[in-house]
Amino acid sequence: MKIKTICCIGAGYVGGPTMAVIAQKCPHIKVTVVDVNASRIAAWNDNDLNNLPVFEPGLDSIVKEARGRNLFFSTNIDQAIEEADMIFISVNTPTKTYGKGKGMAADLKYIELCARQIAKVAKQDKIVVEKSTLPVRTASAIKNILDNTGNGVQFQILSNPEFLAEGTAVQDLLNPDRVLIGGDTTKEGQAAIQTLVDIYANWVPKERILTTNVWSSELSKLTANAFLAQRVSSINAMSEICEKSGADIDEVARAIGMDSRIGPKFLKASVGFGGSCFQKDILNLVYIAKTYGLNEVADYWEQVILMNDHQKNRFSDNIVSTLYNTVSGKKIAFLGWAFKKDTNDTRESPAIKVAYNLLNEQANIAVYDPKVVAERMYADLDYLNTRTEAVNRSLLTVDTDPYLVTKDAHAIAVLTEWDEFKYYDWQRIYDSMHKPAFIFDGRGILDKKALEKIGFVCYTIGKGS
Ligand code: UDX
Ligand code: UDX
Ligand code: ADP
Repeated sequence: MKIKTICCIGAGYVGGPTMAVIAQKCPHIKVTVVDVNASRIAAWNDNDLNNLPVFEPGLDSIVKEARGRNLFFSTNIDQAIEEADMIFISVNTPTKTYGKGKGMAADLKYIELCARQIAKVAKQDKIVVEKSTLPVRTASAIKNILDNTGNGVQFQILSNPEFLAEGTAVQDLLNPDRVLIGGDTTKEGQAAIQTLVDIYANWVPKERILTTNVWSSELSKLTANAFLAQRVSSINAMSEICEKSGADIDEVARAIGMDSRIGPKFLKASVGFGGSCFQKDILNLVYIAKTYGLNEVADYWEQVILMNDHQKNRFSDNIVSTLYNTVSGKKIAFLGWAFKKDTNDTRESPAIKVAYNLLNEQANIAVYDPKVVAERMYADLDYLNTRTEAVNRSLLTVDTDPYLVTKDAHAIAVLTEWDEFKYYDWQRIYDSMHKPAFIFDGRGILDKKALEKIGFVCYTIGKGS
């Protein structure tokens, strides 16, 4: 079977960029991305490419090339499903906030709604592809719904987890380390796998397209994220030892990274990992392990999260204790709110937890982030449900000028590793601050020696004094 039309349900950080690249690389396929969120779809259709709902370097030019040609964004979900030969499900799967598995299991509500909608609408055979990260064996649940509520048409379910990282999504999609496709071992399943392989083969070298059974594919995604997050927690655990012992975490990372068995990537100490995936996927893994009665396995992975929480808390604790045990009424400037550079995404960003802790100490926080808008930051705080919206807006202010944000501050906290922070006029910033002027570099990106020469009191994660 040759695919002529694709529908993707979910126009978020994964669905949007992924479909844009598929459309760009496969001009012979019509790709329609649909979402229940009408304002999001409107933003994807905005003539001003600066207003796309997802900021990713390079994404605007790809959308510009393909949109209106063979890439479409729409709220007409039924029509797109009906037309499509292949349907990607790329909706959010947040951690459950209620009931059984609360705080751990993935909430599959949105996935199930999609499956039911596909079943209701589809009048011809379709291939359904799981793009969202899902717990192992979700495919069978989807298949069950489709087969029992559908119009008697044939569905093949594939698992095709997305490994792109935000901030480098376009590069990761254009040049992936691998593409993973899981499907049934039956003849029909293998044929479905092949149709998806053929799509990726338009730009991905064949040897990088792996095919497995569905369960291996689903579990590989959780495993990859767990391993990556574990590396960050491991280097962060060492960062605390470095600070106590006088070692330098960057030197340690370099030394171990040259061991080819360890490798140099993903060894940057930080204020903690954030993002929509790591915590959610590990919690999900912990939940799965517990469901199987594998308590030691569950505890092992849970420690990655506990270490990450500790790293965020000790960063804010250190700010408070360094500022003479009180930040009450003091202005603390935040550079960065996004969970990493080159994205406007703030989900699980360590900045939120650090802000939460400092607000509990009655600090005044002023934030600058090059891509995150004020409404997003306030939404993140309001979501915590700990203060009224009015109080959040009075205690935390946002400005688009980093020099104003840092003016009259007692301390600066670097929460995101945006490149531009390195090139500020740090003398000018120093001159405008209260003295002693403190900097807490939670990303290890600033030149500590140069800042100390100016007069700053500088704390850098993982650097002993
Ligand atoms: C280790 C370090 O590799 C080496 O750099 C250091 O100098 C000394 O300690 P060694 O203990 O000799 O070396 O062997 P290594 O190959 O690391 O294996 C250690 C154990 O891990 C073995 O029992 C090995 O079977 C096991 N192992 C290793 C696994 O079970 N799986 C693996 O993938 C790798
Ligand atoms: C991650 C996976 O990398 C990706 O393969 C998967 O598809 C989705 O989850 P993402 O969360 O977008 O991607 O970004 P990533 O680059 O992995 O960073 C996650 C968090 O870890 C960020 O907060 C980042 O700042 C932090 N991190 C990463 C570190 O603190 N140190 C590092 O060395 C690497
Ligand atoms: P991700 O990072 O996984 O892409 P996002 O939250 O950015 O997650 O995007 C998921 C998108 O899926 C959201 O825009 C949401 O509105 C959309 N969505 C969720 N459920 C449905 C549904 N049943 N039908 C259509 N779109 C949905």
